[in-house]
Amino acid sequence: MWKLLKPLKLPKVWMALSILACCAAATAQNPTAPTASPAASSTPRVRFEDNMAERTKACTACHGDQGRAGPDGYYPRLAGKPAGYLHNQLRNFAQGRRHYELMTRLIDPLSDAYLGEMARYFSTLELPYPKPSASNTISAERLAKGQQLVTQGDASRGLPACTQCHGVRLTGVQHHVPGLLGLPLDYLNAQLGAWQTGQRKAHAPDCMAEVVKRIPSEDLIAVSSWLARQALPADTHPAPRPPAGPPLPAALRCGSAPELSSTAGGQP
Ligand code: HEC
Ligand code: HEC
Repeated sequence: MWKLLKPLKLPKVWMALSILACCAAATAQNPTAPTASPAASSTPRVRFEDNMAERTKACTACHGDQGRAGPDGYYPRLAGKPAGYLHNQLRNFAQGRRHYELMTRLIDPLSDAYLGEMARYFSTLELPYPKPSASNTISAERLAKGQQLVTQGDASRGLPACTQCHGVRLTGVQHHVPGLLGLPLDYLNAQLGAWQTGQRKAHAPDCMAEVVKRIPSEDLIAVSSWLARQALPADTHPAPRPPAGPPLPAALRCGSAPELSSTAGGQP
C-alpha cells in the first residue's frame, strides 16, 4: 500500500561525484593538507574553489541546491537538520540500516570523520521551508485523528505523542532528532512504511520501529497527512533539548538519540 517512488536519472550526478571522491578522500586522510598548488609549480592546473559547498556538489545534485530537497518528494532536505541526526543517517546508509545504492556507493569510501563534517556543514545552512503542499483526499475526521496521535499519542497503545520526542514545535531536538514539518507527504509515507517493513532501521534500540508497530497503517496515513499540511512555526530551529514530560517507557528508548532518555533532558 505504500507508494514506492522511483528515483530520477540524473546525468550530472556522475561528474559531481568524481569531484567529491577526489577531494573528500584527500581531506579525509589529511584534513589540514593545503589545497592550493604551490605557486612555483609550472604545471597549469584546473582551479576550483575548495570549500564544503563545492565538495558537496555531488550531494546537492540529488538533494537540491544547498540541500533544500529535490523537486519531487524523493530526495530529502538536508539543510538545517540536526548534525547528529544527519551523521547518524550517513552511518545508517554506510552500515546497511538504510538503503539507496547510488548514495551508499558514494559515501562508502569516506571516513566517519568526513561524514560528520558534511553533516555539520548541512546542519548550519539556513534556508526557508516550502509551503505545505499535501493534497491527498482525506476526511477532516481522519486528519483530526492524525493531529491527536501527533500531539497526544495514544495511552491505550502505550504510544507517546510524536511531540514528546520530536519537540513541541515538531522542528526536531538537538542533536539527533529530526523535525517532522516541511517534509513532503510522499517522503513521510515512504519512511514510515520503510520502518514497518524493516527496510529502514535506526541504531538499536530502534524506537521508531516500536512507534510504527503501535499504529495501524490507516492511522499512520492520518498522521503523515496531518503533518504534511502544517506550516512551519516562526522559529524553525530544532529545540535545544527534549520537552519536559513523563519519562519515556523503557521499550521506547532510542539508541540513536540518547538525549531523549537522559536525565539531563526534560527541562523546560
Ligand atoms: C543519486 C542521488 C543521491 C546522491 C548523489 C546523494 N543522496 Fe543522499 N539521499 C538520496 C535519497 C534518495 C535519500 C532518501 C532515501 C530514503 O528514502 O531512505 C537520501 C538520504 C540522505 C540522508 C538522510 C536524510 C534524512 O533526513 O533522513 C542524508 C543525510 C543524505 N542523503 C546525505 C547525502 C550526502 C552528504 C551526499 C553526498 C555525499 C548525498 N546524500 C548524496 C539520494 C542521494
Ligand atoms: C520515543 C521517541 C520517538 C517518538 C515517540 C517518535 N519518534 Fe520519530 N524519530 C525518533 C528518532 C530518535 C528518530 C531518528 C531515527 C534515526 O536516527 O534514524 C525519528 C525519526 C522519525 C522520522 C524520519 C524523519 C526523516 O527526516 O527521515 C519520521 C518520519 C518520524 N520519526 C515520525 C514520527 C511520528 C509520525 C511519530 C508519532 C506518531 C514519531 N516519529 C514518534 C524518535 C521518536
